[in-house]
Amino acid sequence: MSPDTPSSSTATLLYDDWYPALRSDLLRGRQTATALLLGIPLLLGRTEAGQLFALRDSCPHRGIPLSCGGFETGAVTCKYHGWRFAAVSGQCLEIPSLTRHDTLDCSRIFATAYPCEERDGHAWVYLPAPGSGRLDIADRSNLPAVPELQKFSARFRSAHLTADLPCNVDHGIIGLMDPAHGPFVHQSWWWRARRSIHEKEKHFEPIPQGFRMSAHAPSGNSAPYKLLGVYGHPITTTIDFVLPNRRYETIRCGDKWFSSLTTVTPVTATRSRIDVVAAWNVFYRVPFVPAIAKFFGARFVEQDRVTMVQQAAGLQHDPTLMLIDDADRPAKWYFALKQARLHAANGGEFVHPMTGPVTLRWRS
Ligand code: FES
Ligand SMILES: [Fe+2]
Repeated sequence: MSPDTPSSSTATLLYDDWYPALRSDLLRGRQTATALLLGIPLLLGRTEAGQLFALRDSCPHRGIPLSCGGFETGAVTCKYHGWRFAAVSGQCLEIPSLTRHDTLDCSRIFATAYPCEERDGHAWVYLPAPGSGRLDIADRSNLPAVPELQKFSARFRSAHLTADLPCNVDHGIIGLMDPAHGPFVHQSWWWRARRSIHEKEKHFEPIPQGFRMSAHAPSGNSAPYKLLGVYGHPITTTIDFVLPNRRYETIRCGDKWFSSLTTVTPVTATRSRIDVVAAWNVFYRVPFVPAIAKFFGARFVEQDRVTMVQQAAGLQHDPTLMLIDDADRPAKWYFALKQARLHAANGGEFVHPMTGPVTLRWRS
């Protein structure tokens, strides 16, 4: 795959980072759930103390999914031969077939365990590069911070939504940062009309592991932004993209704010999932606003999802693709950042592809 154009089928995956596996409210009490992240099957649950855990959903003895067995008092029991594993560390606690004549020390056997943290209602799982050896689950000192939605006041409302995307993570991500599809995919009376297309000029700057669309007044042609204008302060929007898969959008207007974190996560090398969590304190006291926001947010994501289903049908035939200036420049930065990250993962130096601020112009 050339470094700066998307591949139609599989994507290279970035490890050594946190990815959202599922919504943590699926893990109530002794409930467990399975998830697939970067092609790795996971069993997730919660200890009695409330701590989340994530184990590779595969018994280290003979590979049956641990999810076929049971989970009780902080330990997972394999269905096949009853080996028990501590849920958080994966350490083997018991091998029922051993007799007093056996010398095997079961505490030296581990089911693969991954760091797992709860933030913004997501269960985030840290996935190390394959073959990098067993992680000490208790030691988080070398891990990057768990991603978190920015909030600017103690009281806020929030919502989330999720959708499966039939395309690889790269297409999902460049769809997130693609400014030119808006007037075509998202046209509707409440958002914007196609005839409202006009030239835009936006300023970008490098940030660690990503880039920022600098604070700007959002386009006046979108109704939700007009609505926010009722507060009478200047509105600023900042959009950050950060590797491996995060888009943070912050809209501030005086002490009112709206903040969202959108991630596109590789389920496998060929499929992905989009998750959006949003929080806001605008219209805090107005009833139904969370429901209305969720309805419009869901429609927005659905328009993208349907388009990506259609795109995936086209990509099956392995077309050659292109990225153009300036509208696809953020996508080019994404691919360059990803290459820099892969280079660094192989022992090289991470060199940011942007050397300074850049102004882009496009019509949308
Ligand atoms: S396969 Fe799990 S205990 Fe044997
Ligand atoms: Fe979109």
